[in-house]
Amino acid sequence: MAERILTGIKPTGQLTLGNYIGVLKHLHKEVDRGECFYFIADLHALTLPIEPEVLRQNSIDLACFYLAAGLDPKKVTLFLQSSVSAHAELNAIMQNYLYMGELSRMTQFKDKSAKMKENAIGLGLFAYPVLMASDIILYDASIVPVGEDQIQHVELTRDLVNRINNRYGDILTMPKAEMRKVGARIMSLSDPTKKMSKSDPKGDIFLKDDLAVIRKKIMSAVTDSGSEVKYDVENKPGISNLLTIYAALKEISIEEAEKEFVNSRYGDFKKAVADVVCAEMEVFQKKYREILESKAYEEVLKEGAIKANKIANITLKRVKKAVGLLNID
Ligand code: TYM
Repeated sequence: MAERILTGIKPTGQLTLGNYIGVLKHLHKEVDRGECFYFIADLHALTLPIEPEVLRQNSIDLACFYLAAGLDPKKVTLFLQSSVSAHAELNAIMQNYLYMGELSRMTQFKDKSAKMKENAIGLGLFAYPVLMASDIILYDASIVPVGEDQIQHVELTRDLVNRINNRYGDILTMPKAEMRKVGARIMSLSDPTKKMSKSDPKGDIFLKDDLAVIRKKIMSAVTDSGSEVKYDVENKPGISNLLTIYAALKEISIEEAEKEFVNSRYGDFKKAVADVVCAEMEVFQKKYREILESKAYEEVLKEGAIKANKIANITLKRVKKAVGLLNID
């Protein structure tokens, strides 16, 4: 069987340059390696409070972002997680094979729940990795392109696959996370020791920000003492982050990026970073607006759901049979 490549993005908050560099920008190239399944993780978006209208708008935006990033809908399957009911069904089965102890050790759960009152933490947030594992398993995905913060979830999925295969025979495909060499963890511009995330307006570059705002955010990004443009995460986290952004967008190595700025001052370096980011975002935002206006995403999501349902139901049936559930149709 050809390799299957799968990833999802949550339609919560606004997408950031971190999401773009870590995953989105590169997804169109995966078609050369196998069959691609990309989805809008809208069920996952419900694990934290979100207004219905915001969720709907974000889901449409995300569909447009995927397409604006160059995905060819004839070559990839793009769909909404909630339009394939097998995700929820497999989730109901798999929740019996992951344990409270391992779920409570997940960094993302610990970080997110730490900021909440205990009686406001939904079961869905705790069980988040079960649904994510089900997403991956359903498509027999062997490759899962993600940023660094999702590695632990994919590792847990691997543990689950091992557990199921040992118990019921080799019925599931073992997935593997793949991270970008450059850009798997883009940091906040206002605090480069923290990850750039959808909930930090000052330190984030949002994919829908005006180009002037993007430029301003980069020009006022926190830099470090000294004056040399050098990659040194420990002592120069701000400059290292900007070098990463520059190298990732130009698709060159960090060393090559460093060489370009040997004699540059911080101000000139930041201007060069802003130029590269703005040039890329200008093209991306134009495509996004065209797709949004034409509503081209509607047909794509409909067809994607049909294709995804077909594939997902095959796996679901296999799992149901293996665990002893009767398939009567
Ligand atoms: P999400 O929506 O938080 O992020 C989408 C993708 O962007 C990556 N990412 C980053 N990469 C580099 N630098 C950053 N600062 C940065 N911030 C985010 C994330 O690692 C992710 O790959 N749980 C997933 C969605 C999901 C999923 C799946 C992914 C649901 N089911 C199955 C893969 C397979 C999430 O919340 O990603």
